[in-house]
Amino acid sequence: MELKGKVALVTGGARRLGRELSLALGQAGADLVVNYNRSAGPAQELCEQLEALGRRAVPVQADVSSSDDVARLIEVTTEVFGHLDVLVNNASTFENVPLLDITEESWDRVMGVNLKGPFLMSQAAEPLLRMHRRGLILNLTDLAGIETWPAYGHHGVSKAGVIHLTRVLARAFAPDIRVNAIAPGTVLPPEDYTPAQVESLRGRTPLQRIGTPADVVRAMMYLIEADYVTGQVLVVDGGRLLV
Ligand SMILES: NC(=O)c1ccc[n+]([C@@H]2O[C@H](COP(=O)([O-])OP(=O)(O)OC[C@H]3O[C@@H](n4cnc5c(N)ncnc54)[C@H](OP(=O)(O)O)[C@@H]3O)[C@@H](O)[C@H]2O)c1
Repeated sequence: MELKGKVALVTGGARRLGRELSLALGQAGADLVVNYNRSAGPAQELCEQLEALGRRAVPVQADVSSSDDVARLIEVTTEVFGHLDVLVNNASTFENVPLLDITEESWDRVMGVNLKGPFLMSQAAEPLLRMHRRGLILNLTDLAGIETWPAYGHHGVSKAGVIHLTRVLARAFAPDIRVNAIAPGTVLPPEDYTPAQVESLRGRTPLQRIGTPADVVRAMMYLIEADYVTGQVLVVDGGRLLV
């Protein structure tokens, strides 16, 4: 898919990895809907940066775990652009809670953002993505959805759900919309990680480096190009899953 003149929507697109994915899509020629939840300032700044590149870009606040907010986000996308070519379900929480200490509230929040969010977004965006018979959904999952990490139990369960959601949607939405997932290893450590924690992750990675957002951008660009690939999970982890 050539991105020039296309429209992309990135959830949680204002900061960290979502920002890098949004910028890369804009640099490749796409107009952008930058969804944010709390990061209004960074979303506005990013849209200004995208407009300076000659793109159209609109920041839209929405909580992806709320069907009302998701409906409004898609309404704005329809009003501003009239169609959508690429939906990147990037928004996420990353909660570190021992399994036995997970509260019902925390379980519901994590499932709401990480799993219900991509479902609601995909369901609501489907008519717009189908319009030109060439739509693409990219779901950000995690190694935690493939491996078993007891300290991130509900996070891992939600991300495993995203992998199955990817496959089910790929079948349900074919042939007009492809649906794939990317499972990064660590590309941007959580902001509270110590240098020792980061070094320990690097040490456990066969390719001997922490990933970068650019590694995920390359995977995204491949999946945008690869128009015979659907229902797949592309692991971008320096080989960590092999260990
Ligand atoms: N970072 C990594 O190394 C890594 C590794 C494996 C997988 N991943 C996956 O890659 C994606 C991005 O990673 P990240 O580290 O950049 O994520 P992150 O910093 O944990 O969160 C990304 C964004 O999600 C948004 N968000 C949270 N709750 C939301 C809600 N209810 N509605 C809408 N947006 C919401 C936040 O937006 P606001 O700031 O606007 O509130 C936040 O900026 C995630 O899906 C993550 O699981 C990342």
